[in-house]
Amino acid sequence: METINKIGVEFFEKNPAILPSFIPVAINRDGQPWAIGLNGHMLFAGSAGSGKNSAIDALIRQLAPFIDTGAVKLYGIDPKDQLRPYGLSRLFVALAGGAFAPDTFEIIAGVHAEIKERLANKKIDLDSGNLGRSHEPTESSPATVLLIDELDSLLYLLGGAGAEGKAVARKLEEILLFGRSAGVYMVATTQSVHKDALGRMRDNFHTVVLFRQGSVYVNDLILGEGAAERGFNSTTIPLASPANNYETAGIAYARDAVGKPEKIRFAYTSDNDIAALIREYIKN
Ligand SMILES: Nc1ncnc2c1ncn2[C@@H]1O[C@H](COP(=O)(O)OP(=O)(O)OP(=O)(O)O)[C@@H](O)[C@H]1O
Ligand SMILES: [Mg+2]
Repeated sequence: METINKIGVEFFEKNPAILPSFIPVAINRDGQPWAIGLNGHMLFAGSAGSGKNSAIDALIRQLAPFIDTGAVKLYGIDPKDQLRPYGLSRLFVALAGGAFAPDTFEIIAGVHAEIKERLANKKIDLDSGNLGRSHEPTESSPATVLLIDELDSLLYLLGGAGAEGKAVARKLEEILLFGRSAGVYMVATTQSVHKDALGRMRDNFHTVVLFRQGSVYVNDLILGEGAAERGFNSTTIPLASPANNYETAGIAYARDAVGKPEKIRFAYTSDNDIAALIREYIKN
């Protein structure tokens, strides 16, 4: 299978995000930048080590300037505590790291309450034709991103956390159902997209990116019927490992809101690049 060559931090220097609705994070087969937009919920799915976190690192990097101006607000939940270094920066309003981090419930409840409040206060202005159906980010009402690394692990933990865990899981579902029209977007990674892992949440993501994973059934479920046969087959992306210098990590198939699959490769930032970003936005 043909790969798309690795790209590094220089990609971001060449392709800065101009608007929160166009955030370049990858390239397509023609070498053109591929962007995600803060106008819907996003899911990054794939097996362990397939490159999901390079997508998250790319997104955080591209959002940083907007976070700095107050146009975007970022919250993070990370049961495996891999994003912890970002906690040293001012990029996250709050970042709950680790299984059962006490602030996990608080962050979800806070984001949920923000949606409720924004929807209750929506302005409808018939004269200007503003029917209040979409959210225009402003300084007092920025685009809000709830980043969840390993959503399937989080839901598993919530499933074992009694009535309180159940109530929090329900809030997550409501964030997916009602967040978009309030300018609140969930960006999540997951290793599994099966119904018993994600429940009804699976169907509420507007953009889904599928990295290497093992099931043709899952492939076509996410990318559309017959996608694998048409060449959009995430099961044929070779395993990336130290032995092949991670030659194929970060390669994925994306399905956008209109359902068209596309092969892409995310730009990769090294630990050094990430450390430099954190230093640039270090907490005062
Ligand atoms: N876009 C990329 N280009 C080149 N190499 C990459 C890319 N993304 C990841 N890698 C390499 O692959 C390794 C695994 O990637 P990453 O940690 O992002 O996977 P993951 O899907 O988040 O895995 P896990 O499920 O274990 O958290 C990285 O340490 C890196 O060496
Ligand atoms: Mg990861």
